Amino acid sequence: TQPLKIALAGLGTVGAGVIKLLGENAALIERRAGRPIEIIAVSARDRTRDRGVDLSRFAWVDDAGELSHRDDVDAVVELIGGSDGPALTIARAALTNGKAFVTANKAMIAHHGLELAATAEKTGAALKYEAAVAGGIPVIKGLREGAAANEIGHVYGILNGTCNYILTAMEEAGRDFADVLAEAQALGYAEADPSFDIDGVDAAHKLSILASLAFGTTIDFDAVAITGIRHIIAADIAEAAALGFRVRLVGFGEAGPKGLFQRVHPCLVPIGHPLAHVVGSLNAVVAEGNYVGRLIFQGRGAGEGPTASAVVADLVDIARGEYGPAFAMPVASLARLAPAPAGER
Ligand code: NDP
Ligand code: HSE
Repeated sequence: TQPLKIALAGLGTVGAGVIKLLGENAALIERRAGRPIEIIAVSARDRTRDRGVDLSRFAWVDDAGELSHRDDVDAVVELIGGSDGPALTIARAALTNGKAFVTANKAMIAHHGLELAATAEKTGAALKYEAAVAGGIPVIKGLREGAAANEIGHVYGILNGTCNYILTAMEEAGRDFADVLAEAQALGYAEADPSFDIDGVDAAHKLSILASLAFGTTIDFDAVAITGIRHIIAADIAEAAALGFRVRLVGFGEAGPKGLFQRVHPCLVPIGHPLAHVVGSLNAVVAEGNYVGRLIFQGRGAGEGPTASAVVADLVDIARGEYGPAFAMPVASLARLAPAPAGER
């Protein structure tokens, strides 16, 4: 059997995790995928940086853009980040060249996912992005495939591990916002620019993708109303607790009679609600289907291991030849739902 030959663009937290996971679980992955998954080429900015992984078996490519043009590469994995720039160039070229493309980049999928999916449909290539929403939780697959037979009225959840880590450390240990943010960065949870996390933009990227999958609509990131957690102070959390609530950053999407309603903001979650018990870097997504009822997906939403797990799961699907449209249905069939007027659902 032919191995699936992959190229890795980006060797930071997630990229190094993918190398470790593919190495450590190689035999198990080969049995499940039906063939080996082999990294053949890698790229990052700094060739000399110690990443805690052995790169000597892989070809080093200075210009990550070249990875999408190599004849010996079947699948390109983009783990650089950023909605545009090199990540988008690599994605467009890989899919245009008919190569499978895997990414953890929610910013790029939120802004350009439909264009990339249309290219993938044209060339027959796979476009996979399980790691882009809620880290290791298989929520893309869960909504697109597991809940495919359902009409979903709303989808909501805790979609940013960094914010949840900060809010729960402030709540449980009375810690200072800035200290906990620095810790989340050191643990590899935060975005390269952590304002994307604490200002709610990262959660909004993810919400816009989830809403598209849940409702079968086009992605409309610009219509998400966003408030982050930057201004939450210890007293807010203490007062919420005294009233029986916990503060969580929640993304909420609904396809209602007035259009598509998408919001991300800090919420007072009653102690009895499952989201109140989502702590640390955990994420959770709740969806309500008309036949299946309530689905709750929960797990680790950020960090090396969980994110690498989702990236490699996509590669296993590609190795097996199991992939359909990138979104709920082919791009041309996705509905365009107008944004609900401000404050209405
Ligand atoms: P890092 O900042 O740790 O790694 C980014 C990598 O990209 C680095 O290896 C960097 O190189 C490389 N890079 C940057 N610019 C270029 C370029 N022009 N050409 C080639 N390589 C480049 O990011 P993460 O690993 O944390 O995140 C990667 C992606 O995964 C992002 O889209 C992020 O949003 C997403 N993600 C991250 C999660 C997490 O928990 N960290 C979870 C889910 C998704 P160098 O090392 O040499 O500087
Ligand atoms: N910065 C993101 C988070 C990474 O904290 O949730 C996972 O997408």
